[in-house]
Amino acid sequence: MKIAMVGSGYVGLVSGACFADFGHDVVCIDKDQSKIDRLHQGIMPIYEPGLDALVENNVKAGRLSFTTDVAEGIRGAQAVFIAVGTPSRRGDGHADLSFVYAVAEEVGASLANDAVVVTKSTVPVGTGDEVERIIQASGTPHKVSVVSNPEFLREGAAIGDFKRPDRIVIGAEDDFGRDVMREVYRPLFLNESPILFVNRRSSELIKYAANAFLATKITFINEMADLCEKAGGNVQDVARGIGMDGRIGSKFLNAGPGYGGSCFPKDTLALLKTAEDYDSPVRIVEAVVKVNDSRKRAMGRKVIDALGGTKASRGKKVALLGLTFKPNTDDMRDSPSIDIAETLGNAGVSIAAYDPEGMEQARPLMPEVAMCDSPYAAIEGADAVVIVTEWDAFRALDLDRVKALAKAPLLVDLRNIYNPDDMRTAGFTYHSVGRPR
Ligand code: UGA
Repeated sequence: MKIAMVGSGYVGLVSGACFADFGHDVVCIDKDQSKIDRLHQGIMPIYEPGLDALVENNVKAGRLSFTTDVAEGIRGAQAVFIAVGTPSRRGDGHADLSFVYAVAEEVGASLANDAVVVTKSTVPVGTGDEVERIIQASGTPHKVSVVSNPEFLREGAAIGDFKRPDRIVIGAEDDFGRDVMREVYRPLFLNESPILFVNRRSSELIKYAANAFLATKITFINEMADLCEKAGGNVQDVARGIGMDGRIGSKFLNAGPGYGGSCFPKDTLALLKTAEDYDSPVRIVEAVVKVNDSRKRAMGRKVIDALGGTKASRGKKVALLGLTFKPNTDDMRDSPSIDIAETLGNAGVSIAAYDPEGMEQARPLMPEVAMCDSPYAAIEGADAVVIVTEWDAFRALDLDRVKALAKAPLLVDLRNIYNPDDMRTAGFTYHSVGRPR
C-alpha cells in the first residue's frame, strides 16, 4: 500500500518510518527543504533512539523516500496523513490549525486518485469536518474520506510505542475510511494491538482526554508528594499502594518537578479553550494547568530553601543535571528546568548545567547558564547539585567525586532517583520529592 505523510516532524517521521518498516511504500513530505536534504543524507532532524537506523534501513530497502513536493508525494497514495504541528496560538492558547488547513487545501488541489485523508496531528474536536469541507471545496473529482487517527507515542520511546501501541484509535464516518485504515494497520493487528473504531469527533476528543487525564494523574501525585513532605509520608509508597488497585494503575505516578514537553502543556490548554467554546468547563483540567505552572517555579524555591533561604542563596552556585523535559530527547519545550533556572537566577544564584542531548536547544532559553561538558564539570565548585531530568547518566554518579568537586555535599533530587538512606550514608544532605529526609 502506498502511504503519504505530510509533515516530517516527530510524529510524521516516526510514523512514516514505522509504516515503511511494516512493508508499506511511504513518502514523507515536508515543506522545509533543508530538512528533506538532511534526511536524504541520513541526518535526523530530531534525537530519537533507533530512528536513524530505522530510516536508513527502509530507505535502502526502497520503501521510504522524502520530498518537498506534495503533489508528487501523494500521487497514488491510498492514505494521505496530515502530521503537521498544531502549536498553541500566540495569545489565546487555542490550537493553531493554520498548518493543518493549508495542507488540506494543497492535498485537495493536487489529489490524483481516490484517497483517505487522515489527521494524525493533535486537533480539536470538529477539525475533521473543516478538513473535509476544505477538500470538497477544492472541487476534487476523486472520492475522499477524512479520518481521525490520533497518535499516542511518547518522545524517547516513540518507535516502541508506535509498533506496540496499547490501542489504535480510528475515527471514521464511512466504510471507505474504515477499510483503508484497516489495511494501513493490518501489520499491527497481527501483533494483536486492539483497534477502536469510533466516530470522528470522539476520536479527536480521545486524544485530548487521554493527555489531560495523564497530566491530571501526574499533578495529583505531585500534590500528594507535597502533602507527604509535610505530613511525614513517602510518596513512592503511596503511589505503589494506590497503583496496585487496577482501577488506578501504577503508571504515571512518579512525582517530580511538573510535566513539560511539546504535548501536555499545549494540549491541556487547547482542551480548556474547546471546553470554553462549548460552554462546558473542564474544571479539573483548569486546576491541573494552574497547579503544574506554579509547581515548576516552586521547584526553584525548593532549591533556594535547601541552600538556606533567599539571603543565603545570593551569590551561590548550583549545578543543574538534566535540562530536557524528560530523558532520551533533546526537546526543551516547556521543560521545568526553564522555570527553575529563572527562579534561581532571579534570586542571584549562578548556574552551571549539563544535559546529554539538550544543551544546544537550552542555550538560547537560558543564556545566563554556563553549559558544561560533563556532569562533573558542572558540579565543580557548586553549593548544591540539582537533578532535574532522570537521564540514566545521572543514576550512578561517582558520589565520592561529586563530594570532592562540590563546595558542599548538598543534593536536591527532583526525580527521586537516589535512595535517601544511601545518600545519608554517603555523607550528603539530601532532598527529594515527597519522601522523608
Ligand atoms: C505524551 C504522552 O505520554 C503520549 O501518549 C502522547 O502521544 C504525547 O504526549 C503526545 O501527545 O504527542 P511525551 O510528551 O513524549 O508524551 O512525554 P511523557 O513521557 O508522557 O512525559 C510528559 C511529562 O510528564 C514529562 O515532563 C515527564 O517528566 C512527566 N511525567 C511523566 C512525570 O512527571 N511523572 C510521570 O509519572 C510521568
